[in-house]
Amino acid sequence: MDIVVKAEELRCLVERHKKEGKTIGFVPTMGALHQGHLSLVGQASKMSDVVVVSVFVNPTQFNNADDLKNYPRTIDDDVKKLEGTACHILYNPSVEEVYPEKDERIFDFGLLDKVMEGEFRPGHFNGVAQVVSRFFDLVQPDKAFFGEKDFQQLAIIKRMTRMLNYNIEIVPCPIVREADGLAMSSRNALLSKEYRRESVLISKILFDSKELITTRNTKEVINFVVENINKSALLKVEYFSIVDGDTLQPVDDWDKSDYIVGCIAVFADKVRLIDNLIYKNF
Ligand code: PAJ
Repeated sequence: MDIVVKAEELRCLVERHKKEGKTIGFVPTMGALHQGHLSLVGQASKMSDVVVVSVFVNPTQFNNADDLKNYPRTIDDDVKKLEGTACHILYNPSVEEVYPEKDERIFDFGLLDKVMEGEFRPGHFNGVAQVVSRFFDLVQPDKAFFGEKDFQQLAIIKRMTRMLNYNIEIVPCPIVREADGLAMSSRNALLSKEYRRESVLISKILFDSKELITTRNTKEVINFVVENINKSALLKVEYFSIVDGDTLQPVDDWDKSDYIVGCIAVFADKVRLIDNLIYKNF
């Protein structure tokens, strides 16, 4: 595996592979890698000749200075984990390398980023789009791999790819969960034992709620999820929305869309966890 910190070096390596007619698969990450990330690398290696992974904690997508400061950084472990995968190139640039000048671009995602994460983390998706578009320009991949764990991010990236006319296939990858159901996340490492144990409730209640969709309306299912998670003294739901999987706008009737997803954000102490569940996808 080649480990690269300079954009120019990455460009040369990728160009060499492209000249040999190889296809490039790209997996952007912020590191603190776990099986969720590695599943994306696995999928990328199945669908491309050369796999490029970026590890970069992108400051422009953090709307909270403490969150950025506390975000886990474990590059030595990340390198070890990637060495056991089909990753060919690891790109691990500095902030100065990615942003030699401030990125002033403002993206217009219409209603897509006005809800859920976009509402509670203003500017977050603009920062995600800034960094991902920079990486797309540099790597020029044939395919890029994103987890359904960050459901709204995936929708935003698909929209950005269309808006900026990238000839890149965005490949969605399913959520990887811990044995007890908790969606894997780099932030799980920040949970104390007690909060980690309690966090299992998030996926458990979500899974339970799926059983209700034939007998209860969307409002009742929202109440079920929020009330049952908030019963825990350790967890606090920030939002739970039942939305159309493409537009991300709230759906108030199960029959109004063929693609319906429930998206949730929960505070476990100061750690913010997100998860989602596809109720319907015909
Ligand atoms: P990060 O949170 O490190 O996630 C990198 C990729 O891994 C994302 O596509 C995310 O959806 C996916 N992922 C995380 N946990 C997962 C899980 N449990 N199952 C499946 N996939 C999972 O998302 C980001 O970084 C950043 O916003 C980024 C796109 C890199 C831009 O900075």
